Amino acid sequence: MYKKYKDLLSKRADIKGAIALLSWDQEVFMPREGASFRAKQLATLSGIAHEMFTSQQTGELLEQLIHDRLLSSDELKNVKETMNEFSKSRKLSKEFVEKRSETISDAFQNWLKARSFNDFKTFLPSLEKLVDIKRKEAELIGFDEHPYDALLDEYEPDEKTSNISKVFEDLRQKLPPLLKAIKDMPQVEDRFLKKKYDKDKQWEFGLYLLKQMGYDFDAGRQDISEHPFTITFNPLDVRVTTRINENDFNNMTFSCIHEGGHALYEQGIPSSNYGLPSGESISLGVHESQSRLWENNIGRSLPYWKANYGKLQNIFPTNLGHVTLQEFYRAINKVQSSLIRTEADELTYHFHIMIRFEIEKMLIEGTLEAKDARDMWNDLYDKYLGVKVPDDKNGILQDIHWSHGSFGYFPTYSLGSFYAAQFHEKAKEEISDLQLEITSGNLTPLLTWLREKIHRHGKLYKASELCQMVTGEPLNLDYFMRYAEKKYMKIYGFKKM
Ligand code: CO
Repeated sequence: MYKKYKDLLSKRADIKGAIALLSWDQEVFMPREGASFRAKQLATLSGIAHEMFTSQQTGELLEQLIHDRLLSSDELKNVKETMNEFSKSRKLSKEFVEKRSETISDAFQNWLKARSFNDFKTFLPSLEKLVDIKRKEAELIGFDEHPYDALLDEYEPDEKTSNISKVFEDLRQKLPPLLKAIKDMPQVEDRFLKKKYDKDKQWEFGLYLLKQMGYDFDAGRQDISEHPFTITFNPLDVRVTTRINENDFNNMTFSCIHEGGHALYEQGIPSSNYGLPSGESISLGVHESQSRLWENNIGRSLPYWKANYGKLQNIFPTNLGHVTLQEFYRAINKVQSSLIRTEADELTYHFHIMIRFEIEKMLIEGTLEAKDARDMWNDLYDKYLGVKVPDDKNGILQDIHWSHGSFGYFPTYSLGSFYAAQFHEKAKEEISDLQLEITSGNLTPLLTWLREKIHRHGKLYKASELCQMVTGEPLNLDYFMRYAEKKYMKIYGFKKM
């Protein structure tokens, strides 16, 4: 019977893989005219996968399996996890799912329009509908404490709004003194990163970095897209995309390392668990912990560039020949409040997330109306980041998430950074001479550790259980704060705060 269950989930994964391939193509190669039919094809396939999974037979099969005493504990965990997902999917009717999908398609088009007009009001009717439908969704799914929990659960299972509020509250106390100390010191010079960096040479360098991390090009590839992303068709075909800005060295390099981190996680999940929960990632927060650990804790560290800077200087001698390693290291870690989340440094970044989280939470609990969201946005940017939002494109319309119907997604970005700092600290403790290995360009010990401690488990544990198992304690913001304080005290040259 377990075999029947595995076969069923494997078939579903086949359909999901096809959906992923069509979505990837849509972002990477599809001609513009193909959009409307592609949207239909994707909807049809999603419907088939949904129907297949939520059928009565699936329910009966799971019901029988859950009482099967012959299952191993991992098998039982898989079945229970699938059962959870099954019960949740059954709470949303086909009509609701279709209506949601239409609202989202519409909202996305309106968001594009609103961005081109640079006008929030064009998007407002869609935002109102989205908030309505998401509130309805939360009601249908159900929650104990807060309606936002139900939405959060899709991205970060078992995480609670109250807990995230607590973490952010903590951050709001601890981060500002560090940012103030940084602001009081002379700003670092980074103009050399904005010179012209040849596209092809950047591309080659990005591929080199991915290989060095251990990304398997026989089970993946990299292409160009508008927004960088990682996508899995199956465990042996995990792809990444990047973008290249000729006048900004940071853009491609750090997105390569970031997506590489996501991809290594996917490539590290055992392929024999295809389609099963044990063949999936745990949550977006844990996923983001992998991308950010590579991007920030490793990719923006001195040992990493001790290994790679010489090569980079040889590729771009005119831009970097006269720039020392220290100067380069400080430049890629420049801290400055800004308007755009995706371009933010690793510290002020979290205020961008906090602002979105607060606004989403208020919209979903009904304490803020959609029509007032822009004013709230602009006020909070002034309050937390001290920046004046000049227009909607650089303000509330900057991110795609809401137009995709993704509410509850943003907090996982911050959680990812906090998990990353905690995991990294443990890795340094457990891997002998990790920093030395990195300095010599050997990233294998780190990857092996991540594979062993995190990747290979798939979704057999909750994020909180994994964190406890790997680090011996629950998620603790202090790791991130200590990492940040130590690093930026050195970079900006202050002794205390
Ligand atoms: Co990411």
